[in-house]
Amino acid sequence: MRIDILTVFPEMLESFFNCSMMARAQKAGLAEIHLHDIRDYTTDKHHKTDDYPFGGCAGLVMKIEPIDRLITDLKSQREYDEVIYTSPDGEQFNQKTANSLSLLNNIIILCGHYKGIDYRIREHLITREISIGDYVLTGGELAAAVMTDSIVRLIPGVLSDEQSALSDCFQDNLLAPPVYTRPADYKGWRVPDVLLSGNQTLIDDWEFQQSIERTKRLRPDLLK
Ligand code: ADE
Repeated sequence: MRIDILTVFPEMLESFFNCSMMARAQKAGLAEIHLHDIRDYTTDKHHKTDDYPFGGCAGLVMKIEPIDRLITDLKSQREYDEVIYTSPDGEQFNQKTANSLSLLNNIIILCGHYKGIDYRIREHLITREISIGDYVLTGGELAAAVMTDSIVRLIPGVLSDEQSALSDCFQDNLLAPPVYTRPADYKGWRVPDVLLSGNQTLIDDWEFQQSIERTKRLRPDLLK
């Protein structure tokens, strides 16, 4: 899978995608993540990517030309399944969205900034608008990082134990059960006996009951 991220701050994302699972996925050839600086597609001598809004309101709006040039350039090289714009007024991102996006071949994620982007970009170039939550960030870079991380980790082979993506919180609308590691007894804080019993049926049953209990207590909305 290939993800092209369009931003005016590629340096904000470089270290994130060069660490841990995201680096591993790219080294293993399972995911290609390309960062593009929108500024490289400006033609004026000041490399302006934003301008004052028509209508006299405050703030700056991202200009249409460099973004259109960049998207057109990418589209001339391959077909894209989605051109996503990160925006607080988009559809809410969740595990189901991550699952379906992880099945695609090529996607573009455009990071918004300032007051927004020239609305014609949304009307003519964007196929999907996604928010990562009901709060406003200074830009779409963190949203692009959150979405890309949750998509890429679902690609088969990225996680060392493929099962672990399937048993994630939210995959079946249940929160995950608690996990423990050695020592079994730390300062008298003991790991539940059932996990040390060696009886897999009892362990599976306990984990399932824990998932239900935690979901009821912490996220009852998921059980509706
Ligand atoms: N840009 C600013 N806030 C955002 C949010 N909540 N989700 C996605 N993109 C954003």
